[in-house]
Amino acid sequence: MMTEVITVDADRPDPAAIRRAAECLRSGGLVAFPTETVYGLGAHALDRRAVARLFDAKGRPATDPLIVHVAALADATALAAEVPTVARALALRFWPGPLTLVLPRAPVVPREVTAGLDTVAVRAPAHPVARALLGAVRLPIAAPSANLFSRPSPTQATHVLDDLDGRIEMLLDAGSTRLGVESTVLDLTQDPPVVLRPGAVTLEDLRAILPRVTSRAPAFAAGAAMPSPGLLSRHYAPRTPMTLYEGDATAVHRALLAAARDALAAGRRVGVLATDEQWPIVRELPVLIAELGSARDPSEVGARLYAALRELDAAGLDVILASDLPQTDGLWQALRDRLHRAAAQVVRVP
Ligand code: TXA
Ligand code: MG
Repeated sequence: MMTEVITVDADRPDPAAIRRAAECLRSGGLVAFPTETVYGLGAHALDRRAVARLFDAKGRPATDPLIVHVAALADATALAAEVPTVARALALRFWPGPLTLVLPRAPVVPREVTAGLDTVAVRAPAHPVARALLGAVRLPIAAPSANLFSRPSPTQATHVLDDLDGRIEMLLDAGSTRLGVESTVLDLTQDPPVVLRPGAVTLEDLRAILPRVTSRAPAFAAGAAMPSPGLLSRHYAPRTPMTLYEGDATAVHRALLAAARDALAAGRRVGVLATDEQWPIVRELPVLIAELGSARDPSEVGARLYAALRELDAAGLDVILASDLPQTDGLWQALRDRLHRAAAQVVRVP
């Protein structure tokens, strides 16, 4: 199979290109397209064969359910057995945008989409290309991130091609995605509602509408049982093993430097994932540095994170070193969650 790449304007995509992509989806094809978070790999959500092809193209286990993308709340109501008032309030406030709502599943949604669950995840993305595509196709579109299973999510069209070239029919290339971190997944079938995956819509944002909302213990939670390396719920991960240092900032810098020197002395090739603030510390060493932007600007770090991981991964290194981000509030939750999941090993420095 040849993957056709169509470059479109991120704000005003060519209607003819959108029509072709919509036609491809309607006939059971797989189309990668940008959302405001990451690139998604779309398939007609009510077409079992298209959905099966999607799992196959990604190498995704059938036990991991998909998010169904819709143009607006009215389309989501057709997929859910029940839409609670609070879901309407949340959609009104955050859609289109990076919030995924888990609702009771309506029978029309194939079980393959929800991995056999009685719930369905839905979201209305905000990216103009995604919106144009959903508007043209007039179908619910199942779309996981457009990467091979367990690799970092794609924030650029080249990332999609690196993973899926020849495995999908079409890719709409509209440049880099704005947020760079996947949507917040909020389960409204539990009381109180639970954030299953932190994302760009923060816990603080949600509390304005859901004062009792809670969060499933994030990957970096203090005191959370730390599985042994390799058993960690690895996801969003580079192939090169990444060691993440967490703890007091000064001690972390010292530990990271020592580890880099040891690895270099052993003849290993070292990459460092560094914020602008950490950069001067490692600059003197012969290591490859991928810059994350300022540790004071979570949106900059979010937009850079996956591209930086892929950059280091493509460089043929033996090891990647990173230090944890110190902040705990807002978007930092999501960023630290992804960083911890990407790590093969987390070292807590006293
Ligand atoms: O920003 C995003 O959400 C991107 C863009 C493309 O929209 N999509 C994305 O999809 O990240 P994916 O498949 O990579 O992640 C979907 C997440 C998974 O963690 C999955 O377990 C969860 O949503 N999920 C999907 N359906 C669910 C359900 N019914 N109950 C609980 N979790 C669900
Ligand atoms: Mg994914």
